[in-house]
Amino acid sequence: METIKQQIHSVFATPILIRKVAALTAINSRLQQIVLAHETVRPHNVGSNIGGWQSDHDLMEWPEEEMQIFQQHLAQAFQEMTSATVDGFPPDMEIIVTGWANIARNGSYTRAHSHDGSLWSAIYYVAVPPPSAERPLSGALSFVDPRSGMRTAPNMQPPFGYHMDIQPEDGMLIVFPGYLLHEVHPFVGEGVRISLSANALLMPDMDLNGG
Ligand SMILES: [Fe+2]
Repeated sequence: METIKQQIHSVFATPILIRKVAALTAINSRLQQIVLAHETVRPHNVGSNIGGWQSDHDLMEWPEEEMQIFQQHLAQAFQEMTSATVDGFPPDMEIIVTGWANIARNGSYTRAHSHDGSLWSAIYYVAVPPPSAERPLSGALSFVDPRSGMRTAPNMQPPFGYHMDIQPEDGMLIVFPGYLLHEVHPFVGEGVRISLSANALLMPDMDLNGG
């Protein structure tokens, strides 16, 4: 006889990829240097990052060798995520990626937002100072349940109506659907919290389609 858990089907799940990339962790100190150098020469770009710095959305054109390595691992993750979730990856489509860098210092946070229109979005962590015992959510990434009207009983547990908090680590790469609302808790502490963000669109391959 089936158990109640076998009779319950969880549907409309949200795929989120979380992986540590050792090859990128190994070059994080250099990636940090690169981002900090760009901060000194580029104008402040106001985005959803409050109190911090955000680059222009031209990260995929940065010429540094280590940034090219990052782009390769990012493209691979987008490719794998698409192949794993899109039935029969269309052969005449290609993944177009844009990206930018983020720097947070003491007090910076990112208000809740989504990357609407993107098939996937990604965050890679270059430098994450450890949170203090008093502020364990300092700098944490929080995904918001995208379903509305879920809180119909007190103390509802997953999969109903909750936030998924992730305390980032150096070298962590996260890929998620662009529609998924997320925010970053205020970063409290010394040092800099550096991340690289990206959006991926699935577009017709212009070479194959004669464009
Ligand atoms: Fe974001």
